[in-house]
Amino acid sequence: MRSGLISLGFLGLLTAAACGTDGSTGTTHTGGNSSTAGTVGPGGTQSTAGTGAGGRPTTSGGAGGGTTTTTGGVTGSGGKSTGGTGGQAGSATGSTATGGKAGSGAAGAATGGQAGNATGGPAPGGQTGTAATGGQAGTTTGGVSSGGAGGQGGASAGPASLVNNYDGARTTTISFDAGWKFHLGDVSGAQGATFDDSAWTSLDVPHDWSISLAFNQSSAATYEGGYLDGGLGWYRKTFTLPASSAGQKVMVQFDGVYMDSTVYLNGTQVCARPYGYASFECDLTAGAKATGSNVLAVKVNNQLPSSRWYSGSGIYRHTWLKTVNPVHVAYTGTQVTTPTVSSTSATVNIAVTVQNDATTDQSVTVASSVRDAAGTEVGKGSSAAASVAAGKTASATHTVTVSNPKLWSPSSPTLYSVVTTVSVGGAVVDTYTTPLGIRTFAFDASTGFSLNGTKMKLNGTCNHHDLGALGSAVNYRAIERRLQMLKDMGGNAIRTSHNPPAPEVLDLADRLGLMVMDEAFDCWYAGKHTYDYGRFFNQWYDTDVQGFVARDRNHPSVIIWSIGNEVAQAGDKATVQKLITSIHAKDTTRPITQAYAAWVGADSITGLEDLVGINYAPDRYDSVHTANPTYKMFASESSSALRSRGVYNNQNNQESSYDDSAAGWGHTAETSWKNVNTRAWIAGEFIWTGFDYIGEPTPYEWPSKSSYFGAIDTATFPKDVYYFYQSKWNAGGATMVHIVPMNWTNWTAGQAVKVLVYSNADSVELFLNGKSQGSKNVDPSVSKLQWSVAFATGTLEAKATKGGAVVSDKLQTAGAAAALALKADRASITADGRDLSFVEVDIVDAQGVIVPQAKNQVDFTISGPGAIVGLDAGDATNHDSYKGTSHAAFSGKLMAIVQSNATAGKITLKATSGSLTAGSVDITTVAP
Ligand code: GAL
Repeated sequence: MRSGLISLGFLGLLTAAACGTDGSTGTTHTGGNSSTAGTVGPGGTQSTAGTGAGGRPTTSGGAGGGTTTTTGGVTGSGGKSTGGTGGQAGSATGSTATGGKAGSGAAGAATGGQAGNATGGPAPGGQTGTAATGGQAGTTTGGVSSGGAGGQGGASAGPASLVNNYDGARTTTISFDAGWKFHLGDVSGAQGATFDDSAWTSLDVPHDWSISLAFNQSSAATYEGGYLDGGLGWYRKTFTLPASSAGQKVMVQFDGVYMDSTVYLNGTQVCARPYGYASFECDLTAGAKATGSNVLAVKVNNQLPSSRWYSGSGIYRHTWLKTVNPVHVAYTGTQVTTPTVSSTSATVNIAVTVQNDATTDQSVTVASSVRDAAGTEVGKGSSAAASVAAGKTASATHTVTVSNPKLWSPSSPTLYSVVTTVSVGGAVVDTYTTPLGIRTFAFDASTGFSLNGTKMKLNGTCNHHDLGALGSAVNYRAIERRLQMLKDMGGNAIRTSHNPPAPEVLDLADRLGLMVMDEAFDCWYAGKHTYDYGRFFNQWYDTDVQGFVARDRNHPSVIIWSIGNEVAQAGDKATVQKLITSIHAKDTTRPITQAYAAWVGADSITGLEDLVGINYAPDRYDSVHTANPTYKMFASESSSALRSRGVYNNQNNQESSYDDSAAGWGHTAETSWKNVNTRAWIAGEFIWTGFDYIGEPTPYEWPSKSSYFGAIDTATFPKDVYYFYQSKWNAGGATMVHIVPMNWTNWTAGQAVKVLVYSNADSVELFLNGKSQGSKNVDPSVSKLQWSVAFATGTLEAKATKGGAVVSDKLQTAGAAAALALKADRASITADGRDLSFVEVDIVDAQGVIVPQAKNQVDFTISGPGAIVGLDAGDATNHDSYKGTSHAAFSGKLMAIVQSNATAGKITLKATSGSLTAGSVDITTVAP
């Protein structure tokens, strides 16, 4: 264990230095909590008959996912589509509920309609079809409560796994992800057009080379980077230009390359970008050959240590080839704002930067159509023809009024889009789609946060960008599933700690309904590690900040810009002012903040920033507020509590899940929640963290390689505290109850076992083998109910009552491990080479009860058109490869992530473990 339980980042700040110098018998939840007739599950509100909200209950009674189907449930089944060519129906597995309700087909060029918008809760809308080839099915992860962990509806289809919209969805923008060559290590001349790369590895991006490496105790990444090495790597791609590119501008767009990348076309450098979280475009027009082969080479240099957490290495986000007319919407060139919004009318202001790369001046007309989620035009506007000088840009602005706008919010994330056309001589030369959501929000120094006039707390989680066993390589479905889990936990906000996210994160936050604190940096000029962004800040901050804000400013989910996290120079007024100026050059509609380490540096920049973010230090909430009653305050980071899934004491580099362990500067979930929720002026909190992440295994080092902070582990299994947040953040939502510990097995007869219950019901009665252990009322100001129960084998059940309905959670004592039970979150996925099925593998006894401390090593084989792309059990100390075919379980479970390839068919995943009865699961892959 590291001494003092101090985060080096945190300590660095406090010392004003550059930060970072530095079992046996088992129990199972039987499908979570079963509900009784009439209780609607947590997919949201009741939906109409027969159209399951993406795997959530329907009319009366919850037909939830998991294994328990409760009385009266009607299973929603996939895909009812009307209009157009139809949305993509959803399909789901591992649960009784399947599919989202497909919506009406969108008008326009799309072949796919818009899916989603199931009436039963926040099933996110699908992709509007303008530039898409298929609509995206609705995806709602059922929460956990009535009916257990809900099923997930909505197989992703077509572009669902690819978001072509951060620089405007254009039909002429195509994926550039396939067919790269990769070599780890520097090679002289590798940028050359004729360089022989035939011996290099063939792969598609997104790609993270670090995640495939073995854990290395002496890695320069250290514990902070999860002991996974970085280094220097080369990518090359040989390509020909589409015939349609003749006379056009040709650009390649990188959503992100970690880090310090240099891009060469046919041997000549065309661009470079040091910041690993920046998105950027390279103009290939001058050097690209219209016929014959071109070679793009990318050098990536992740010299370690470059980060305080696991960064991954390589071209880890999507890439795009863009072909545009010389007269076109400039890169990230639309800015859509809604200066006035009421329930009857909204003003949509559309500012378009047109770029004229032609050799002569051009007379250009710009027009925009505002479309609702179904693709129906609800308003339009245009600007008078204007001349744009050759080689220059010009701005066109028009205003559109939308009547009776449907407002965007976490509970109802209604989206619109703006389709802008640029015309020359009456002919459309560019069509560009910008996302739009209509909402208002405000921060108040006394009353906190409100959205569309409704007061609410920001119930947020901080998250790093890695996707567990997938590393940092972006995958739409993996991000979608994670964000949906945070929603189901009751979260309404996320913080992209501590960097600009992948574009997919914001696309999904818009669709699912999560507000975003969008963060630029973890360090400024001084840096926190030898090879981090600090080296590049002075030269690049303005480009990076303006680029990040221009990229993200049209997402309704984004409500806060953060200029930094616990930056050592937080109080440097001149730098703060420069960063604010960079943001204001691209957007003035969101408040700007930074996350201060325990307030250090905050006082010196009074008045410059709009919001005051304080990390930890709740003992300062009152004094800061009293001394500065006009500060709009929020807990930009809180808690840093520690826990390991299924563990109930601190030993063997594991942490107790009784919510009784926290980092030295942190607090339990319960304490943090109380600190924020007993003060009206604190707008909310962003807990550290929603998900465990690779690296920063506070309070330990080797063999620990991943964090303990998450409410959900790296394998995406919820820990007990997930249900604490659900009971508090979703207090008025579907009734739920959860027993801690998740283990009614590894105790001795008569032992007094501490039992906690999290519930949002009115009262809970606990039973051991049918005998009442007493009933307790749920007092909303109290965070948990507690019993001491003398252990006896059998069944422990908590029955929670609310308004006459009863939901329950049940634990059973397990016998010896006997078999492997596999269940896929979705039995049908899209055959697009990207879609994923998450297969939970449980170690069960002869009766099917999960053996709660089982750590069996499990071996996998796969057949059919798919691959195992990740294995993980969420054990911070485990060193099995995330990318292997064998992995140890942890607390009775592990997760296998299966990915389709481009062939439709049937995948069979088999799991074996010594003498245990083997298990298998079939996954169907369906052509997009
Ligand atoms: C904070 C820091 C985070 C993380 C966390 C761990 O001070 O902002 O990045 O290091 O500590 O508790």
